[in-house]
Amino acid sequence: MIEIEAGGSLDEVSGDVLVVPVLGEHNWGPGADQVADELGDFLTDYLDEIDFQGKPGSVASLPVRDRLAFKRLLLVGLGENPDHEQLRQGAGAAGKNATRDASVVTTLHLVDVPGADVAVLEGLLLSQYRFEKYRTEKKPSRVERITLVAADEAAIAGAARRASVTADAVNLARDLINEPPAAKSPSTLVEVARGIADAGGLDITVFEPDQFEQERFGGLMGVAAGSHQPAAMIVLRHEPADPQGFIGIVGKGIVFDSGGLSLKPPSGMETMKTDMSGAAVVLATMQAIAALELPVRVVGVAPVTENMPGGGAQRPGDVLTPRNGKTVEVLNTDAEGRLVLADALSLVAEEEPDLIVDAATLTGACPVALGEKIAGLWGNTDQAIDQVRVAADEAGEAVWHMPLPGYYRKNIDSDVADMKNTGPRYGGSINAALFLKEFVADVPWVHLDIAGPARWPDDEHYQVKGGSGFGVRTLVKLIENVASNGAGP
Ligand code: BES
Ligand code: MN
Ligand code: ZN
Repeated sequence: MIEIEAGGSLDEVSGDVLVVPVLGEHNWGPGADQVADELGDFLTDYLDEIDFQGKPGSVASLPVRDRLAFKRLLLVGLGENPDHEQLRQGAGAAGKNATRDASVVTTLHLVDVPGADVAVLEGLLLSQYRFEKYRTEKKPSRVERITLVAADEAAIAGAARRASVTADAVNLARDLINEPPAAKSPSTLVEVARGIADAGGLDITVFEPDQFEQERFGGLMGVAAGSHQPAAMIVLRHEPADPQGFIGIVGKGIVFDSGGLSLKPPSGMETMKTDMSGAAVVLATMQAIAALELPVRVVGVAPVTENMPGGGAQRPGDVLTPRNGKTVEVLNTDAEGRLVLADALSLVAEEEPDLIVDAATLTGACPVALGEKIAGLWGNTDQAIDQVRVAADEAGEAVWHMPLPGYYRKNIDSDVADMKNTGPRYGGSINAALFLKEFVADVPWVHLDIAGPARWPDDEHYQVKGGSGFGVRTLVKLIENVASNGAGP
């Protein structure tokens, strides 16, 4: 637990490292101006020597033990007019540089942007994450305290709470995604969900294999058939007294995707423990909105299972009937995400929420189109699409709106059933989204294909290589926006 406190003026505080913003070459941000006055040529000569221009994301570190009440000064480039995400990233870059310091003091939040404090704290907190459970030599972050200079105690308490809840939720998702597949069976995820429900006062229902037939979870049964692990459909509910709206969130929870009988090549399986990221995002989001006590009714659904080629496995050519009664010919058992989502989306659509958002590591074609750091976004109404885009933008998660053309629907026509679970290779992510659309009836719906950003490919700013929790910040923001503006137009 990193403690966050409001500090006095820069003259009154001390600590291991002082982090100040630079808005361009010699263009000092708040706090940096005062430090530049005090340090004079010592600072400017050094910055000129290392050619530090204050570009967004750049960090300069210098020892100031004898000159200031800190051991080290960190100047963080933010560019001239930083937005939230540049603040978050700048704070993250500084945070990565300060993981060996116990106390971090900063003025970054004094940059003139509303809500800068939350963004800065999110960046600092998220950058401290490490997944070290399986290392014998651990090197966790040493940061114990973050002090915001010249901050109002009450305002900081709110910002600190918001940022810590979000960072804890993202870190929970990161942990679950990074966990090895054998250590996160569907039943383990069910236990995690129960823990979240207990801690946050959420309702929880878990459908188990002996109920699947009765619940008509034909998609989940088909995928689970090849695995020895019992599958589950997790349903969490946040039911506040006077809700501003009703949102359904759904996450793909394939704890390991071998491809099933349509087996993946070995290289394709290396990161397939990531295939439960959507479920991790749903669980983490439920934890966060419960902690923030957001006045929005939310149902979170995660179908969790493993996609394996065991003796009972479904075969290419089999026909399944997901919950809404539409029939599906399974031609490729590796297109399993859409099968389990078919049941989960149908289940949520029956409750007619104002909006359904699903998050799924659905198609390898999505990162082919958008790269690894941008999620694809599809939706069936303009308003739903805009609502989620705005939330993602505010949260600092990159999404790109993709088309859902009706004239591609024939790509998933089947010779024997209402649809097939694959289509042509081209437009693979669109074909998958068109498939999902069949299971949301007329409910406003947005699909996020997070196959790329669910796993961050490198260490940069506040992102840490590995499971990213991408989607948590967007969903929390979305629900927060519904809390303040309502769900309707
Ligand atoms: N989980 C994969 C998608 C994926 C691939 C995510 C690579 C992240 C990285 C999904 O279940 C899958 O295998 N999709 C197939 C669909 C195809 C068989 C129609 C794919 O993308 O190849
Ligand atoms: Mn697959
Ligand atoms: Zn998958």
